[in-house]
Amino acid sequence: MDLDQFAALRTPEGSAALAAAAEVAGGDPLSAAARLRAAGIPAGLAAAALTQAELRRRAVGKFGPEGAGMFLTRPGLEQATRRVVADRRAARLRAAGVRSLADLGCGLGADALAAARAGIRVYGVEADPVTAAMAAANAEAAGLAELVTVECGDATAFDVTRVDAVFCDPARRTTGTGRRIFDPNAYSPPWDFVTGLAERVPRTVVKVAPGLDHALIPAGAEAEWVSVAGDLVEAALWCGELAEVPRRATLLKEGAPPDAAAGGGARCWQLTGSGENEAPVGPVRRYVSDPDPAVVRAHLLAELAADLDGTLADPSIAYLYTDGPAATAFARRLEVIDMLPFSLKRLRALLRERRVGRVEILKRGSALEPEKLRRDLKLAGDGAASLVLTRVDGAPTVLVCRPVPG
Ligand SMILES: C[S@@+](CC[C@H](N)C(=O)[O-])C[C@H]1O[C@@H](n2cnc3c(N)ncnc32)[C@H](O)[C@@H]1O
Repeated sequence: MDLDQFAALRTPEGSAALAAAAEVAGGDPLSAAARLRAAGIPAGLAAAALTQAELRRRAVGKFGPEGAGMFLTRPGLEQATRRVVADRRAARLRAAGVRSLADLGCGLGADALAAARAGIRVYGVEADPVTAAMAAANAEAAGLAELVTVECGDATAFDVTRVDAVFCDPARRTTGTGRRIFDPNAYSPPWDFVTGLAERVPRTVVKVAPGLDHALIPAGAEAEWVSVAGDLVEAALWCGELAEVPRRATLLKEGAPPDAAAGGGARCWQLTGSGENEAPVGPVRRYVSDPDPAVVRAHLLAELAADLDGTLADPSIAYLYTDGPAATAFARRLEVIDMLPFSLKRLRALLRERRVGRVEILKRGSALEPEKLRRDLKLAGDGAASLVLTRVDGAPTVLVCRPVPG
């Protein structure tokens, strides 16, 4: 989409086309386009409106009902922070006393809008003209135009002395193909600029890929890994005065009762620590805990092990074993019913004997392909089991388990 096409969507005819497109989106694209044209909507406007309607349907999953009224580009939506995460970050910035924020590379404005909702004055800078125009329109649609200014330009030229704090979520996809970029030096704005911000602005937050190499964490920064309902979604570096602890794992759950530690009506659990401790190693015990990926990526297994009085069975494999069912939000818990050295034949025989017809398969430290294993097991019966494929004392091992309720 170019600026002219976007401007057309902002006219009364464009609004009517968007409303008509919302009614037909989700079905067959050809008949949707035909219906819009039959209603007298010009082909170009109809196509732009249908694209928006499709993107808006997806945006609702990421942003909630507000997504249905936002202007979106495909890459902008893919890269945007989901609302529950952006709201929590904004709440933390506000609680730290931030009143004005530069959002350098603001994209469609998901983080900027969250900061504004938290009462922060936001200056967004976005290099792509259409994305910048959409971010401004999104602020207007959310009733936040007075708190959000979006400027189309190069974030590296922004005068950071104008604000209390800076947020930067560099683009981690190539412009043409949209492929993910794994090398931080290829981020835009570039990594040197992003990390240099922390030296110029006492309160800087940088969103990064959750796969970030720990060696790239700037000295003194807090590195936080965030998961939503068990999916690892991002990492953030809290620099300067905003750093509170070396490492943090934040687990969020949408749609749950509001919690004081999270914005946006989500529940939030946090585990913190140095990220440098080693968890103790011991034998397999009656319960196994599969830690949330945010805990694992933050290198906080030792802290979780201390909380649960748990041990690893292998120093390089992130399953924790406990004698009791270890009530915790930081791990999925299973009771170990059987443990056997991995052998397809023995496992198949055991599951047959137990009449297990359905299995979920978890694995860490195993090269086995779960779907192939499931086929090879030729399950029959009406029982269910959880299989944990792992290594114990270096030997491939399978734990036959049942989930701990709750
Ligand atoms: C990951 S997206 C930001 C997403 C945003 N945080 C959100 O949640 O909606 C990064 C954005 O930075 C923009 N960008 C990249 N380099 C830039 C630069 N030098 N100046 C301004 N914007 C830039 C890209 O066009 C892209 O829209």
